[in-house]
Amino acid sequence: MSTSSGDTGIADRIRNAAFSGRITSAADAVRHIHPGDTVAISGFASAGTPKDSIPALAERIREARAGGSDFTINLLTGASVSTDTERLLSEVEGIALRMPYQSEPTARGRINRGQMDYVDIHLSHVAQQVWQGYYGHIDVAIVEVAGITESGELIPSASIGNNKTWLDVADKIILEVNSWVPAEMEGIHDVYYGTALPPDRRPIQLTRVDDRIGQTTYKVDPSKVVAVVETHARDAASPLTAPDAVSEAIAGHVLDFFEYEVRAGRLPADSLLPLQAGIGNVANAVLGGLDRGPHKNLTCYSEVIQDSMLSLIKDGTVAHASATALALTEEGIEELVANIDFYRNHITLRPQEISNHPEVVRRLGVIAMNGMLETDIYGNVNSTHVMGTKIMNGIGGSGDFTRNGYVSMFLSPSTARGGAISAIVPMTPHVDHTEHDTQVIVTEHGLADLRGLSPRRRARLIIDKCAHPDYRPLLDDYLARAEAQPDAGQTPHLLGEAFGFHQRYQETGSMR
Ligand code: COA
Repeated sequence: MSTSSGDTGIADRIRNAAFSGRITSAADAVRHIHPGDTVAISGFASAGTPKDSIPALAERIREARAGGSDFTINLLTGASVSTDTERLLSEVEGIALRMPYQSEPTARGRINRGQMDYVDIHLSHVAQQVWQGYYGHIDVAIVEVAGITESGELIPSASIGNNKTWLDVADKIILEVNSWVPAEMEGIHDVYYGTALPPDRRPIQLTRVDDRIGQTTYKVDPSKVVAVVETHARDAASPLTAPDAVSEAIAGHVLDFFEYEVRAGRLPADSLLPLQAGIGNVANAVLGGLDRGPHKNLTCYSEVIQDSMLSLIKDGTVAHASATALALTEEGIEELVANIDFYRNHITLRPQEISNHPEVVRRLGVIAMNGMLETDIYGNVNSTHVMGTKIMNGIGGSGDFTRNGYVSMFLSPSTARGGAISAIVPMTPHVDHTEHDTQVIVTEHGLADLRGLSPRRRARLIIDKCAHPDYRPLLDDYLARAEAQPDAGQTPHLLGEAFGFHQRYQETGSMR
């Protein structure tokens, strides 16, 4: 475990005596967790996952199994958590149910073999569904914090996710106080306490990306805190590869589209509208490309902040970025830690029920840009299920932003697996985002603006602009024969062969 950053010592981090009296080892802390418990932990992308308690919990589960006892928990998080967390608990077969998002191969394998229940839901819905009781009682919350104030409130670390909710609803709380998180991070967070279930729900008074409507700390009932674990461990890095020709080409189309929209009077010339971009290399390349464009004072209202956002903030291209987590590479973490006083004034971290809130996303007019596995020729998008059955990651926040964005875009290479699979198919065997929500599709070959078009026109445009040339003849042939049917209807399909692409892949390993 690396301990490179480090500033103030742990004593300065726990400024309330009631909590200092509960300091214990991670191994002792996790003795409060019992088989069958529902455990809600901090963490969103790679940031803010508990560092010491999870390995200790995995060891406790492993020992119990070695002794012949069954020991599983239900695991709730913000979204994906550090890959080590997901892997360790999956390897010891310690998770019975997982919610709401994962992106790790060991967990994915267990889910797809039917060995682990997985509930894949919109990230903005998590807090509400937990309050409603769909996940039963939350027995234990394990939450990483940067410190505990004199008055006994908690200073968040590099992600907020659902932590406010976990602290509110859990019976018992284990706090991990991580002195690696720069003390100067204090003040970057905006924890809103005004959410409620209907009929008590009130408007969320957030009208600009940099509005602050909450407080900088979490509240906690000290009587629920059963253990405080001290740690000094850095966040795991979110790896990125350098932009390749495909992601650069996609970024180029997106940037041209923005200029077109500005000329059409649909986007403000200087600042555009708040940008949201999913995690990954393509999103990172698009944001990186903004550096070379004419815009200044851009804003971002998103789920995560990646490395490219730090550069945009540094050179003044982005004035303010709001998210629920930082998802940075090693270099990004170093950059943030070294210049935290600067970034604190340009970044706000919020609970995910606010960063992804449909009301706020709609009001701000967010430009939503997310990845996809595939789209059909009409714009129905599959983000989650390979070949319609095997989960990849989950819907995450893509639905929160796509359904409510001002412009909703999906960005993807036109093929996957070295060209063996087309990302443009006649019919998707699983739909996460319907044709009614998808507005723009972008691949390295071009951009299809579907707004204002009927299904048949959309199909023509998606094939012409976005499909890989190797697959265009097959798609042309499918559409021509579907449209030629006497009763072709509003959305022509050849239902008997609509999934021929996918079947061919299963039989021969290639869609061609
Ligand atoms: N069929 C089968 N596999 C496919 C595929 C397809 N049509 N398209 C992509 N894949 C595979 C790739 O081969 C790759 O597999 P590998 O990891 O084994 O190499 C994997 O999916 C990821 O694809 P990649 O091209 O690297 O894109 P990505 O990292 O941008 O991920 C999604 C694409 C769809 C998986 C990802 O965007 C996602 O999980 N989206 C849903 C959640 C979301 O949008 N979150 C952000 C909201 S804020």
